[in-house]
Amino acid sequence: MKKIIMITGAGKGIGRAIALDFAKAAGHGNNVEAHLVLASRTQSDLESIASECKSYGASTDIFPMDISDSASISRLVAETLRLHGTIDCLVNNAGVGRFKPLSELTEEDLDYTMATNVKGTFLLTQKVFAVMEANRSGHIFFITSIAAETAFPSSAIYSMSKFAQKGLVEAVRLYAKGCNVRVTNVMPGAVYTPMWGEVPETMKAVMMMAEDISGPIVNAYLLPERTSVEELVFRPVSGDINE
Ligand SMILES: NC(=O)c1ccc[n+]([C@@H]2O[C@H](COP(=O)([O-])OP(=O)(O)OC[C@H]3O[C@@H](n4cnc5c(N)ncnc54)[C@H](OP(=O)(O)O)[C@@H]3O)[C@@H](O)[C@H]2O)c1
Repeated sequence: MKKIIMITGAGKGIGRAIALDFAKAAGHGNNVEAHLVLASRTQSDLESIASECKSYGASTDIFPMDISDSASISRLVAETLRLHGTIDCLVNNAGVGRFKPLSELTEEDLDYTMATNVKGTFLLTQKVFAVMEANRSGHIFFITSIAAETAFPSSAIYSMSKFAQKGLVEAVRLYAKGCNVRVTNVMPGAVYTPMWGEVPETMKAVMMMAEDISGPIVNAYLLPERTSVEELVFRPVSGDINE
């Protein structure tokens, strides 16, 4: 039976690379049966990634949605269950970051970041976990960050949101072990993606690429269900970029 893999923030950056690697694993000539549910706000991004995934032989649905909006989350889960009856894997990847000195961060920066990274991740996880708990099977990835454990000068709000996500990971793990659900906390350092905007070539040269992160995530999913990769930590070989 096909596994239903839901990926948020699948249109760009790390989420896009994860979708592609799942598509390659599920595509022509492989034994993995997977259907990808791709979500983010920008329809054109989703159309582009879906068409690339299909070129590897994977089947997809696209859901333009805003994870900071609870009604949008409810529609995503309800429609996926209507179409496929279950969700086997959730990749909580959608996230935003506004990086500024402490004195320049605004209340709007706080509300925007928390609504996406914290509220959205919590509400979607809560709904999908209920499905997995009933199935006594499933895998939830959280793409948190090394900023879930370490603060950086321009990332006060971002770090607050990522520390909060790590709290959610730890709480969900307490429930997950009792019902055979795997939980993986993925903590990358600096990855070159649209989240960073323009970066100098010297900085780009030391950053990781999205495909460095996505392969090990898909490999963690493909391990036998008895085995849970609890954490994946990725850093540029030269260490953290201390912005
Ligand atoms: N890049 C890094 O250095 C790095 C390091 C550690 C952790 N991370 C984490 O990795 C995740 C992905 O980051 P990235 O670097 O790949 O960022 P990105 O290139 O900006 O991509 C973020 C994705 O999330 C989607 N998204 C953002 N807000 C959304 C919302 N409200 N509702 C639905 N989708 C939304 C975006 O699409 P739309 O804008 O179209 O919605 C996009 O597809 C984030 O959680 C980030 O915190 C990134």
